[in-house]
Amino acid sequence: MCGIVGYVGSNEAADFLLEGLRRLEYRGYDSSGVVTAQDGTIDVKKTAGRVESLSQLLKTSPARGGVGIGHTRWATHGPATDENAHPHLGGDQIVALVHNGVIENYRGLKEKLLERGYEFCSDTDSEVVAHLLAYELRNLSDDVNESIDPYAPLIVAVQNMLTQLQGTYGLAMVFRDWPEVIVTARLGSPLVLGVGDGENFIASDGSPLAGRTEKIVYLADHEIAIVTADTIRVIHRDQGDVRHDIKVLDIEAADIDLGRFDHYMLKEIFEQPETVRNALRGRLDRDEATAVFGGLNLSAQQLQSVQRFVLTACGTSWHSALVGEYMIENLARIPVEVEYASELRYRNPPLSTGTLLFALTQSGETIDTLAALREMKRKGHPTMSICNVVGSTIAREADGGIYLHAGPEIGVASTKAFTAQCVVMSLLALYFGRLHHLSYEAGLHIIDDLEKLPEQVETALATHDRVRQIAEKYADRNNFLYLGRQYNFPAALEGALKLKEISYVHAEGYPAAEMKHGPIALVDEQTPSVFIVPQSAVYDKVLANLEEIKARGGPVIAVVDDEDSRVTEVADDVIVVPAVSDFLQPIVASVPLQMLAYHIALIRGCDVDKPRNLAKSVTVE
Ligand code: M6R
Repeated sequence: MCGIVGYVGSNEAADFLLEGLRRLEYRGYDSSGVVTAQDGTIDVKKTAGRVESLSQLLKTSPARGGVGIGHTRWATHGPATDENAHPHLGGDQIVALVHNGVIENYRGLKEKLLERGYEFCSDTDSEVVAHLLAYELRNLSDDVNESIDPYAPLIVAVQNMLTQLQGTYGLAMVFRDWPEVIVTARLGSPLVLGVGDGENFIASDGSPLAGRTEKIVYLADHEIAIVTADTIRVIHRDQGDVRHDIKVLDIEAADIDLGRFDHYMLKEIFEQPETVRNALRGRLDRDEATAVFGGLNLSAQQLQSVQRFVLTACGTSWHSALVGEYMIENLARIPVEVEYASELRYRNPPLSTGTLLFALTQSGETIDTLAALREMKRKGHPTMSICNVVGSTIAREADGGIYLHAGPEIGVASTKAFTAQCVVMSLLALYFGRLHHLSYEAGLHIIDDLEKLPEQVETALATHDRVRQIAEKYADRNNFLYLGRQYNFPAALEGALKLKEISYVHAEGYPAAEMKHGPIALVDEQTPSVFIVPQSAVYDKVLANLEEIKARGGPVIAVVDDEDSRVTEVADDVIVVPAVSDFLQPIVASVPLQMLAYHIALIRGCDVDKPRNLAKSVTVE
């Protein structure tokens, strides 16, 4: 959601800003803009629409200068118009800033600024921040000593401004009278700095930095950075200078190339054999018939005494948590509760000691998941993250965690992160199972199954042509049902979500047997039902549900693992995936469902990688 980039150096800032904004497009946005500072002026260029429109604007009217910031805006306060696009100017154009997040008390601040004579051009909360900063700069107390620290006025003005804000922000600011510097500040909205040679970069995540530098600094909440071409200084909003660690950026330029694919979503679907392999790498211990994790940071005694898991997440990550619930309860026999993070953060469930919280999140920045994690931490429960983005807020705030190692996921629709999360869930089930009742032999069986999984995912990808044909047949339908039982119920939910979010087609996921308690009323010749029905203990039961749909004239698309099964005789269209143990079925079955959503969206002319209204990481409540 919203993206920030910044550049300070001897090259034209606009070049990096445009390229950086393109790399941040995946976060979701509806307008974009840049500002550069040079020769006593600050020059803003912004427009509603895609970064491509901004690029055209910059061709006819270039933004010159070696210092600049840029932004992609995902509308919160006011529609996607040129005026509401960032950057916003403050005072008589003495400052310009870009902002991610939401300023909750902006109305009160705006009223005061209006009384002081400030005029507003936009509906945004962010313009309020720009004017407030200009006001603070203009009204510094006499004891701010510029001769000792040339940036003292900026720092004090920014600190004074920040203390008045309620809400969340990632801010980057440029100043007419200090054209060699960018100031950034963060609270609840991620910002990173890229350390270059005679140039420095700012971004809301690491992807714009790939290929520019391998050195990254993660700003923490309440930190302010003063960035010039040669220096980075970090201060805490209230406590003065703090040391900043330079880490290694884990993204390479090739990771964000489309390669031979038309869309990131398809590329990421096809990366899954490798990402599943990466999620398993170094984590299987045949000697002990268990899983190993480097980052749980809990003592053997704490791990042994876990009596209950709470898994919390949003969206697709919530679906992998549901898969995890089935896996952990079945294999480790430990009770699991799966909570929407947005609900958990405001609920006050009675949780006994011995409860371990896992926050599942691809981005590591989802605000609801972060808030739920903080709430659980505050109550004294150990917290873990299962996260893809290294150095993200949730990964850093959790007591420990497990990275997915899936590489950057750029398509808004999560695919490879989902399957990697499910793999990590299976490893946790194995690990905790082996701490309790699971035998050595049973542990080894699970390891055997997991070792075969990357190849089985590869085989599932071979259904691509078949899935494309099915997509062509049903792409004009406006309602779909997705049905599965047990491990495949969350896979049904995930299949439906994929279709909804990228093709804007209504789809509902249900446990197959629930269908007759209501959704069956939706069934007609125009409503396909996608059944996930591999061989399992409930095969006959699901087959009966499938027959009920057929009896009412509903077309059935079935994902099966046995070509000669009875389902193939009844279903209209069949997709055959490899047979795997039941706990791995949702991983293998999800692959064709991702491709089905992809092709239906494509045929319907939808923007697969940047679906309307959606953002990759949801950093507002
Ligand atoms: O980054 P997270 O995993 O925390 O994101 C959670 C959801 O916003 C995300 O999974 C969303 O549902 C995706 N668009 C699904 O494809």
